[in-house]
Amino acid sequence: MGGPGKFLKENFSGNITVLKGKSILLGITGSVAAYKSIELIKRLREEEASVRVIMTGASKRFITPLSIELAAGDRVYSDMFETPLSHISLPADSDLFVIAPATANIIGKYANGIADDLLSTALLAYNGTVIIAPAMNWRMYENRAFQKGLNYLSSIGVKTVGPEQGNLACGEEGVGRMADVERIMESIITALTKQDLAGEQVLVTAGPTREYIDPIRYLSNRSSGKMGCALAKIAGRRGAEVTLICGPLSVAPPDNIDNVITVETADSMYAAVMENLPMSSIFIMSAAVADFMPVETKESKIEKKDKLQLNLVKTRDILESVGRLKNKPFTVGFAAETGYRPDRARKKLLGKDIDMIVFNDVSQKDAGFDTDTNEVVIIDRDREKKLPLMSKKDVSMAIFDRILELKDNR
Ligand code: PMT
Repeated sequence: MGGPGKFLKENFSGNITVLKGKSILLGITGSVAAYKSIELIKRLREEEASVRVIMTGASKRFITPLSIELAAGDRVYSDMFETPLSHISLPADSDLFVIAPATANIIGKYANGIADDLLSTALLAYNGTVIIAPAMNWRMYENRAFQKGLNYLSSIGVKTVGPEQGNLACGEEGVGRMADVERIMESIITALTKQDLAGEQVLVTAGPTREYIDPIRYLSNRSSGKMGCALAKIAGRRGAEVTLICGPLSVAPPDNIDNVITVETADSMYAAVMENLPMSSIFIMSAAVADFMPVETKESKIEKKDKLQLNLVKTRDILESVGRLKNKPFTVGFAAETGYRPDRARKKLLGKDIDMIVFNDVSQKDAGFDTDTNEVVIIDRDREKKLPLMSKKDVSMAIFDRILELKDNR
């Protein structure tokens, strides 16, 4: 065990974007959702991926090649014979093939090995990961012949995102709307992310707790849940089975994870953690649990008066209780301090007998509570790794990288 002064101090700089430098081949087919491809191309390029586009003849009735070319910053491919062998060279140089929107026609052709235009031919010539985002009328989507093809594609590893329920172009409502661009982006990022947490069961806590004074008033704190949700999302992207236990969040929990359990008080968070801990291989306590709760919660509203004295007691320390367990998962805590005090965080690491603690100075601008970024030091028994200000997702990436380095050598 490394005592004070014995651990290695490291700085880390660098941004982790999985899409940087990747080449995405995007097929656009004839659906009213084709206009959303522009947003998809912009998002991909924002993440520093390059995008080459194949448009079918029908798609050009919904959106012009010029609009797509301007978004992609590159010419559009469409005609098999205009650039000979483009059906081989385009897929050969691509890291991922995405069809969005994908009509019933292209999905049916792909499932049956039909190659009668540039897009369908390029699909057959591609042997990497394919993502399709179906878009069509709900009757077509439910059609048994269509579903047979879709199921077949999924059995050979083609990934599907959507479709979603909602108003359709024909004026009807049902399942058939192309998935939201951010959902498509999420599946693209996941497909290109190394699945190095596959087989791990990750339990994460997020957000604040509320300790009730009476039925309408409570003690709480400024935690939004953004840090815990980022951890859960990244664990899901890297292939883990994820359970998120959250207090009242100011953000939506990620939609790429397996279980979301909502709680309100420190006691109910304690109970949920203890129930789920035996099924977990990694436990991360990023929630800001209230440190105190009223000795009693009044059953009816306390009348307004000039002065009110509250009697508070300490809440149960969830992390400390987990630390005391013999067969605990790899356990990570957070330390919220005002001021640069990694020494206090290290004290918590040792005092609570856990494997790692993430120190954040919550008095810093753009760090800690209710921000999209954080500036942390990852502290374990042997090492302190100081990270620059970065997005909470990138902080999460770095935390899981270090967990994986340490986990099997515990
Ligand atoms: O949710 P955000 O707005 O994104 O903000 C993120 C965050 C600032 C809440 C997060 O990064 C963070 O620092 N979380 C831990 C906050 C905290 O309670 O720190 P602490 O130093 O008081 O507690 C140390 C550890 O003990 C923490 O892991 C905490 O979850 C845990 N604890 C504390 C009290 C208690 N009763 N039970 C606990 O398990």
